[in-house]
Amino acid sequence: MRLLVHSAKQAVVVSDSGEAYLAGDRMARVVIREHPAGISVAVDGNGKIEKIGSNPEIQNLYSHVKFDEIIDASNMCILPGLIDAHTHPIWGGDRVREFEMKLAGATYLQIHEQGGGIFFTVEETRKKTDDELYESLKRRLELMAQSGTTLVECKSGYGLEKDEEMRLLKIIENVKEECPIEISSTYCGAHAIPKNKTAEEATLNIVNDQIPELKQLIDRGILSVENIDAFCEKKVFDTDQSRRILEAGKHIGLRINFHGDELYPTKSAEMGASIGATAISHLEEISNDGISAMAKSNCVAVILPTTAYIMKLKAPPVQHLIKAGVPVALGTDFNPNAYCLSMPMVMNLACTALGMSMPQALNAATINSAASLGRSGTHGSIEVGKYGDLIILNAPRWEHIIYQMGNHHNLIHSVIKKGRVIHRNHQASHIQY
Ligand code: NIG
Ligand code: FE
Repeated sequence: MRLLVHSAKQAVVVSDSGEAYLAGDRMARVVIREHPAGISVAVDGNGKIEKIGSNPEIQNLYSHVKFDEIIDASNMCILPGLIDAHTHPIWGGDRVREFEMKLAGATYLQIHEQGGGIFFTVEETRKKTDDELYESLKRRLELMAQSGTTLVECKSGYGLEKDEEMRLLKIIENVKEECPIEISSTYCGAHAIPKNKTAEEATLNIVNDQIPELKQLIDRGILSVENIDAFCEKKVFDTDQSRRILEAGKHIGLRINFHGDELYPTKSAEMGASIGATAISHLEEISNDGISAMAKSNCVAVILPTTAYIMKLKAPPVQHLIKAGVPVALGTDFNPNAYCLSMPMVMNLACTALGMSMPQALNAATINSAASLGRSGTHGSIEVGKYGDLIILNAPRWEHIIYQMGNHHNLIHSVIKKGRVIHRNHQASHIQY
């Protein structure tokens, strides 16, 4: 699809020097292109960004080119598609009842220990047919796309047992063909300890039975899983068990990208850095040594503001991480405990509840999220050669996507994936600014 977007007020390209991620002071700035005559972006026939320039410049260069689609972005902004670095999108049965219990004071681990939480969702998921799970997953991904997400990390994890976990990964694989956004799949069999096993038995089952099965399915081309996750937490998988699971995944070629230091300090960050983790999520309870270890190994911190907010956890030390040089990314953590599909909402919470600036939040939700998935060479900024994944925002400044809390649906005019419009809302904001 050859696409031309022209006359934009701003193009927030995020980065213009091919950086693989942004860290430290560099996170405080997004690169913006502006021109009195408007800015244009041209996407080539392979869905890749070919040229970014002023309107006159692009008009000259492309006067003889026929585009499949032309979007007039007068008075609007162009942003990169958002990248959601952490989601659990495939499950059945809601947890509204538990939400109510938590509002009344119950903690996450209390509910988990009573057989609720992940265990409740595992039971509800098992009752669903492949088709039912496929349809709800697809719908959730469509809604994410409508909020501006163009690449999303998707975990299994509500199967726990081998066959169920593989079933969930196959459904995620099938949805890739039909869903508007791109997926990076993650095997998260170590999400909880099944009721019939000890933590050690579950670890051995994952390492000796599930991961070999996963490798076979990958080798046969049935699955294309990219990452391995484990819930490294007190009363779930301890730090040593998590390490063994993650290393077994790394051994079959998966990137290590896991839940750590969330509810209790467990030295997850130190462990993750020592085994070459690409990313670690949560980190509310990270230690100073953990921060230094992540900075040294360029391990991305995936911050999940919805969870910290809903569960009233202590805020993860975002500015401390940034100051130390750890690249910070953002994710919705969409799951039945934290029902949020929207990265603009997450950026708002990252700013209001966790003290990030708006440029830091946008960098985290684009180039650094791409880095957490090993995809920043092709995704996460508007740079020549990367995929034409774009948002057209009907506002005169890009910050409105964060500032207008919960109103992003009315601001997003179009969402573009590899040069193809996957969502349009031409009614987007008629407010005169
Ligand atoms: O990231 N911590 C583990 N996983 C999820 C919660 C999953 C659930 O409660 O169903 C998280 O918060
Ligand atoms: Fe999670």
